[in-house]
Amino acid sequence: MSREFDIVLFGATGFTGQLVAQQLAAMGGLHWAIAGRNRDKLTAVAAELPTGSAPAIELADAHDRASLDALVARTRVVVSTVGPYAQHGSDLVAACAAAGTHYCDLTGEAHWVRAMIDAHHASAQQSGARIVHCCGFDSIPGDLSVWLLQHELQQRGRSPALHVRGYYHDLRGGVSGGTVASMRGIVQAATTDKGLRRLLVDPYALVPTRAGKARQHELGFAIHRGESVVTAPFVMAGINTRVVYRSNALADDAYGREFTYHEALAFPLNPRGIADAVAMTAGVTALPAAMAAATKLPPLAKMLDNKLPKAGEGPSERARTRGHYTLKVRSVDSDAPTVTFHDDADPGYGSTSKMLASAAACLAFDALDSKPGVLTPAVAMGQALVDRLRNAGLTITVE
Ligand SMILES: NC(=O)c1ccc[n+]([C@@H]2O[C@H](COP(=O)([O-])OP(=O)(O)OC[C@H]3O[C@@H](n4cnc5c(N)ncnc54)[C@H](OP(=O)(O)O)[C@@H]3O)[C@@H](O)[C@H]2O)c1
Repeated sequence: MSREFDIVLFGATGFTGQLVAQQLAAMGGLHWAIAGRNRDKLTAVAAELPTGSAPAIELADAHDRASLDALVARTRVVVSTVGPYAQHGSDLVAACAAAGTHYCDLTGEAHWVRAMIDAHHASAQQSGARIVHCCGFDSIPGDLSVWLLQHELQQRGRSPALHVRGYYHDLRGGVSGGTVASMRGIVQAATTDKGLRRLLVDPYALVPTRAGKARQHELGFAIHRGESVVTAPFVMAGINTRVVYRSNALADDAYGREFTYHEALAFPLNPRGIADAVAMTAGVTALPAAMAAATKLPPLAKMLDNKLPKAGEGPSERARTRGHYTLKVRSVDSDAPTVTFHDDADPGYGSTSKMLASAAACLAFDALDSKPGVLTPAVAMGQALVDRLRNAGLTITVE
């Protein structure tokens, strides 16, 4: 596909968008553009990029379909950081699916991904577009690590691991205004929409057909003596597990029809670790409850507004460089290898900006054998993405 740009970054003026722009600029040799709705802001972002990386500046509005159609027709890949996606993202996905333009984003909004699958999987298959949601901390580490574990077993001539767990150890990071707005959007919509509440608790919300699938419970606070860890619920597990199930479904149940995947935060099994897990469990339960209550109590909404970051705000550079995480993915019922996925950067921003930029480059330049459609990171890019992430400085190992 010959087009003017390799990659267009839509939303380059946002907190995460600026970090992704820095990552793309560092790759060098790209024909690329930064896009958004405000030329002055885009010019200011371009001025902060290293000399020589020179992206073009393009204007488009997330709610002006004609401007999006014109933009996506000029590029092979669109990478979007314009969120909350359920609020601002649908027209762009529609435009990419229609034009055969590959697309990746950072959404963690399962109900919106379901809506995009229903609306655009068939048209993307026809146009040749690979539409890949969830290319950040949710859900690349979990999706790619499970894929790598199963791929390794297959290479060794062994059966797939049927029951897999992902434990996030040593996680340190912050949140941005856009992430808070996305969480609020989900909570607000769920308070009034029963169908959406049902979808949000369905582990198979993103698979094409759910017949014959058993329900499963998320991993919460629990002591696992055999593994010497105490676990707490992980706020991203809701989207990550659903993406992993979609990967399995799109690969014709290559991980097994009865495959299950759970994710949790893990702490060492000692008094300090147990106290941390209790505090985390309380926090993860309290925040959505407070956001739901705030929809009916304006003083509480105001208090949350004052405490939480606003649009354009996020963790400082110091906080981002001090962040880190390690995901360990292993089978619970065999001597299968362990996959470790680690980065010495804040998960949601430092690491996420590397992951999203790598996904965009992968879609633009790598020889991928995946069929088009609304895909997952693992199904769309697999080993090519693992290679790019290693080049970007992430540690991904199979032991
Ligand atoms: N999966 C992950 O790990 C992960 C990590 C980080 C962020 N995220 C997600 O990424 C998204 C962005 O977060 P953020 O904190 O970077 O948000 P942000 O700082 O508020 O940035 C939002 C961006 O959207 C743009 N925008 C808003 N409305 C628009 C419209 N009508 N047309 C064109 N552009 C528009 C804004 O442009 P202006 O500058 O003109 O206002 C800005 O560039 C959120 O959905 C968040 O949940 C996910």
